[in-house]
Amino acid sequence: TSAAPSTSSTTDAGLPAETIDLTDPRLMRDPFGGYGRLRERAPLARGRFTGRGTPVWLVTRYADVRMVLADPRFANDPANVAGLDAAGIRARELAARGVPAEYARYLDSVLDVDGADHLRLRTLVSRAFTRRRVGALRPRVEQITEDLLDRLPDGAAGGVVDFLEGFAYPLPITVICELVGIPEPDRPRWRQWGRALIEMRPGGVGAVLAAMVGHIRELIEHRRAAPADDLLTALIRAHDQGGDRLSDTEMVTMVLTLVLAGHETTAHLIGNGVAALLAHPGQLAALRADPGLLPGAVHELIRWCGPVHATRLRYATCDLEIGGMPVRRGEAVMAMLVGANHDPREFDDPARLDITRRPGGDAHAGFGHGPHYCLGAALARQETEVALAALLRRFPGLTLAVPYERLERQLMPGAWRLARLPLRLA
Ligand code: HEM
Repeated sequence: TSAAPSTSSTTDAGLPAETIDLTDPRLMRDPFGGYGRLRERAPLARGRFTGRGTPVWLVTRYADVRMVLADPRFANDPANVAGLDAAGIRARELAARGVPAEYARYLDSVLDVDGADHLRLRTLVSRAFTRRRVGALRPRVEQITEDLLDRLPDGAAGGVVDFLEGFAYPLPITVICELVGIPEPDRPRWRQWGRALIEMRPGGVGAVLAAMVGHIRELIEHRRAAPADDLLTALIRAHDQGGDRLSDTEMVTMVLTLVLAGHETTAHLIGNGVAALLAHPGQLAALRADPGLLPGAVHELIRWCGPVHATRLRYATCDLEIGGMPVRRGEAVMAMLVGANHDPREFDDPARLDITRRPGGDAHAGFGHGPHYCLGAALARQETEVALAALLRRFPGLTLAVPYERLERQLMPGAWRLARLPLRLA
């Protein structure tokens, strides 16, 4: 399928004159082909979302993506760009997402700020997500994994289960809720809220945000009276110490961000990863034969089929160049991780899934790069490793119940997700 419309006309600067619609279903169905063609055509392409007027620059080459994400000449907060109407940009953004004004402030997360404010917010929680702290959680993650696999409803509907709903979502929801301190009975609601936000029913976003914020406020009151060894307690302490360490709104937003960012993405890495391995029997056999390949396999799965294909917008704080092409102060740039992760300039034969690929590790861009590099990367990798290890050990006859190419996808710009993952366990 030809995802990105082709163009023959170019501007004076050699830029493609056409504007790519990021919400084009053909592009969302084949982002690898579509963004791949953009990457080979020029360092910059013009993109826009249906219903949102202002176009953005898309960068798709590995080196350019890393540059944009690490270069201090870019800001995440448009208010840090001189002369830009940040309030107007923000109002249009929120309107496009259907967010009522009274909830707007809860969406200003650690991802939306720069410099000292960013460091302050990130430092408050980063200790909980270091490799060492995450490593100490491993036995608990293994226990949750075994319990969830025990409960998979085998035998139902001809032995076919939706692995996404039955396992890939519950695992990361359980883990992040335990870390944050959200009691078990409340956890299924987060799955529903996450789903509702993504489906974005008109007028529904406000109600979902109201429910989430109300819920978090109740949790905070409860934890304040009964502290525990969890992130919620740590955040309350930081807030109650005063001294501008963490405002009331920031505390609520941080919980919201961690729980949503901590499960939506990981669920789809597990889903995409399991599907990819089952569609590559040689890779699957190699992994079964040598579980030592697991950490490298997870890195490669994030590169090959990671769930996050694009980052937040970055705003140029001055006139600059990307790949020799001009970007003006105030213009927005979107780093296409999918382009970077399949760039032949960086990865040999990038379309090939190869769990023994060298160099492996964090060479991929699937968790972003620079100051906003994914806070939960070590946790997400660990959950995926534990999940794959247990799944392969317990279900030697595991197969896809639908051919890989026919798996139903959730079409979202900048994301790569399955709608469901029907598996035959034995
Ligand atoms: C940031 C991907 C799991 C929390 C990011 C970014 C990416 C990403 C690409 C950078 C976005 C940008 O620069 O615009 C992923 C993927 C995951 C995953 C692919 C799973 C496979 C998690 C988990 C957590 C988490 C488990 C839980 C704590 C965050 C936070 C940020 C972030 C808080 C913002 C960091 C900052 O602004 O300093 N993630 N993520 N993520 N991620 Fe993840």
